[in-house]
Amino acid sequence: MLYQSPLPAQYDEHSRGELADRIRRRKQELGSCLVILCHHYQDDDVAQFADFTGDSLKLSQIAASQEQAEFVVFCGVHFMAESADILTADSVRVVLPDLSAGCSMADMAEIEQLEDAWEILSESAGATVIPITYVNSAAAIKAFCGRHGGACCTSSNAKQVLQWAMSQGDKVLFLPDQHLGRNTAYTMGHALNEMVVYDPKRDCGGLSPNELADAKFYLWSGHCSVHQLFTPTDADRIRELDGKYSILVHPECSWEVVQKADCVGSTEYIIETVRDSVAGSHWAIGTEVHLINRLANEHPDKTVRSLARVQCLCTTMYRIDMKHLLYSLDALAEGRVVNQISVDPETKRQAVIALDRMLANASSPQTATD
Ligand code: 13P
Ligand code: SF4
Repeated sequence: MLYQSPLPAQYDEHSRGELADRIRRRKQELGSCLVILCHHYQDDDVAQFADFTGDSLKLSQIAASQEQAEFVVFCGVHFMAESADILTADSVRVVLPDLSAGCSMADMAEIEQLEDAWEILSESAGATVIPITYVNSAAAIKAFCGRHGGACCTSSNAKQVLQWAMSQGDKVLFLPDQHLGRNTAYTMGHALNEMVVYDPKRDCGGLSPNELADAKFYLWSGHCSVHQLFTPTDADRIRELDGKYSILVHPECSWEVVQKADCVGSTEYIIETVRDSVAGSHWAIGTEVHLINRLANEHPDKTVRSLARVQCLCTTMYRIDMKHLLYSLDALAEGRVVNQISVDPETKRQAVIALDRMLANASSPQTATD
């Protein structure tokens, strides 16, 4: 995780209203040089300033289509800003308002571990393995996938990308989220016994020679610390509480939770599903709390609640607040770039191959802000 040094004291002195006014003024001053991209998990305090909001796929598509902007300020987490840097022209500078906004799942796959795993699979898999990384991963992991015939995916297009992978080879190494890998492969008709969990911290991933030879999907043992808080018991409890609820979850939830859900999909899908449902619908949702709260506020004619009893907050996304946004915009307006996220050219060259394959397996970009 990168370190964010404390902001100058002045940022603590402004009220919420002053911060909002200052951000608005800076946005106006910077005009069309600036594009603010915002993930759906951001707090409304920050999301109100977005030029575009979206899930990971939509934000990648929007970043790739930026031609006018000089600066992209990414209100999301580190891997999203890295992807934006890889997908935009060299002239575009990408800023992450708080450098410590990382993703614990992305940190669960290190390039050295992946190289070791690849060596083991090359010797033991007995067939062509295609590496697929969830976009929630470091640029070095994406670059590895690019140079080894693989691709990135998001939770919106994991199925299309896995179908593509199976047309390119016989087996898939899916990282870092075992749950997205398992849920997607299962939806495609693969049995759970075709999948094994590869644990990079154990010898040979903790797998026997037979397991290594027989498996079709090697699922990296990573997970999202937020989505793993939802349990099958939560789903049972909601059903018992009130039969009116439909359960809608993100595919980063465990397979056991997904089996109990009515609908499964990315943050964009979750938003569309609630939006398109009839008045009076009841939704218990398994994803990050800010998105759930926003949906509840935007749809007073529907009942929207979290599937869990505990608060499922992405603490790293939450680091991006108005103070950090203003800090990065102040610097840009004064001609300085702070917190630039910059991927080295060689990593970029290889990672863009994997990201382009991801974008090729997706529907066309949506361009309007929500
Ligand atoms: P989406 O691509 O669905 O927005 O998910 C990103 C993410 O990090 C969810 O935890
Ligand atoms: Fe990472 Fe989970 Fe936060 Fe998404 S919700 S950014 S996967 S830690």
